[in-house]
Amino acid sequence: MSIEVTTKRVTAVELQGRKGGQPIVCLTAYHAHTASLLDRHVDLILVGDSLGMVMHGLETTVPVTLDMMILQGKAVMRGSRHALVVVDLPFGSYEESPAQAFRSAVRVMKETGCGAVKLEGGKRMAETIAFLVQRGIPVMAHVGLTPQAVHTIGGFKVQGRGDVEADVISADAKAVAEAGCFSMVIEGVPEPLGARITREVAVPTIGIGASAQCDGQIVVLEDMLGLSPRVPKFVKRFGNIGPMIEAAVAEYATEVRSRAFPGPENVYAAKKPGT
Ligand code: KIV
Repeated sequence: MSIEVTTKRVTAVELQGRKGGQPIVCLTAYHAHTASLLDRHVDLILVGDSLGMVMHGLETTVPVTLDMMILQGKAVMRGSRHALVVVDLPFGSYEESPAQAFRSAVRVMKETGCGAVKLEGGKRMAETIAFLVQRGIPVMAHVGLTPQAVHTIGGFKVQGRGDVEADVISADAKAVAEAGCFSMVIEGVPEPLGARITREVAVPTIGIGASAQCDGQIVVLEDMLGLSPRVPKFVKRFGNIGPMIEAAVAEYATEVRSRAFPGPENVYAAKKPGT
């Protein structure tokens, strides 16, 4: 007898249709097990290149490679069955040309089985986004604070504070929407600008440090769980797992050192032979 398991995942097209509707719930995940814990509660799981900083202790996302993204993308696909999984294209894997972006995105989609990719940049990436979408690759855009550009913007700072800068980001958002992205992340902009872009573009906006008016929100899972060393100011804590891990490890270490940690003789003591 075989048991058929059907997987009906959320699609990029479905999420695109949620503009102005029920808010879209998004979180990052990098591992199979965490993906399985959040899968039924969210619409979209992003395998973000923030994994470089959160998992690997890097200072920025710049050193993250395509192979790192594919490895964690596969893990998240294994752990999830419902949410749309989107995998970030890392720095250097797409900016050179639409053809380079296509090759990278095809590798990501074929090797992980994910439903879409995300890339950073506004107007300058519009041609690439159109190229990918026309060839069957759903693209999530990312405007405002784009962490892969940290070395040219001079740090992880709020973008679009002045009127001129706000107009530039608004024009970026319009360009990527017109190029065919199915949604866009707006990161690190003043609240009125996040709300303005949400009104101006026809695709769902997903805010991170942007505006509650966005069509959805995303945060890095470890940031909201209290498991990241550095957390952006705007992130609300929904848990505090770091101290729980430390307390459990301290208790374990004490038991081992006092020889109280159960060995096989303790664990199996109550069992009858042969059971
Ligand atoms: O890499 C990431 O996790 C992201 C989110 C912060 C949007 O891009």
